[in-house]
Amino acid sequence: MKGIVLAGGSGTRMYPTSLAVSKQLIPVYDKPTVYYPLSVLMLAGIQDILIISTPSDLPQFHRLFGDGSHLGLNISYAEQPEPNGLAEAFIIGADHIGEESVALILGDNIFHGPGFSPLLQSTVRDVDGCVLFGYQVSDPQRYGVGEVGADGTLVSIEEKPENPRSNRAITGLYLYDNGVVDVAKNIRPSARGELEITDVNLRYLAEGRAKLIDLGRGFTWLDTGKPEALLTASQFVYVLESRQHVRIACLEEIALRMGFISAAECHELGLRLGKSEYGRYVMEVAGDFAETRAVAGV
Ligand code: G1P
Repeated sequence: MKGIVLAGGSGTRMYPTSLAVSKQLIPVYDKPTVYYPLSVLMLAGIQDILIISTPSDLPQFHRLFGDGSHLGLNISYAEQPEPNGLAEAFIIGADHIGEESVALILGDNIFHGPGFSPLLQSTVRDVDGCVLFGYQVSDPQRYGVGEVGADGTLVSIEEKPENPRSNRAITGLYLYDNGVVDVAKNIRPSARGELEITDVNLRYLAEGRAKLIDLGRGFTWLDTGKPEALLTASQFVYVLESRQHVRIACLEEIALRMGFISAAECHELGLRLGKSEYGRYVMEVAGDFAETRAVAGV
């Protein structure tokens, strides 16, 4: 499966902060926002990843990740010149997707919860149609909203409805079979002039090929599109990281644990991060990993 991180948009809800910096590069506590969605693709086992952003912001993403090889990834880049909607990602990324299935994740979405990595890995293995992830929120009007019937199947999807039929938001992580490129090419722009991801999902739903996986109440899903949401997300990450001495979305650690890089390579990446606590953590993780393997005789 191929991966796409969509980090476009003008970020007007974050002005003036996002006037000179992409909103997906603004930090959530100790790392750029885009680390969080990228970590999700990595946890799913996806290594071939396209980052889509605006022509002016794309060079900064390239500066941050390069070709991704230091993380055992293959990262490429493509421009979305105008904010023409999320579904345009499949048209821009058609060559990248090729003959494969694809996971799209929005560059400002944060997912954290127990068992997420095994859930992703088993789900991406065989995607027929589309797989969406639902999450209960207090303000469903702000999101795509999914309604689930008595037997647990998805019955409707609405984009930012005034009177939502449920409180289940559709999160910004979407898995599709290869047919999504054609579906995206055949939808028309909405009233606000965008190719809507919800219209893509409705096509799959009409064919009975859209599935919704509910992320339960022990799970955390946050987006960071507004200043207060960014603060909430930073506080969330800070509390978890400082209390447990772990790091969420530490790409180097994930690359190590997923077997994309060796402990020695991970240590080297930590060294390069200089005096930051994040860098020290990366070196510590590499050391612990190597020690555990040595004790286990592997
Ligand atoms: C987009 C989608 C919406 C989804 C949300 C998740 O909204 O259109 O369906 O629920 O992302 O973050 P946007 O953030 O572009 O308003």
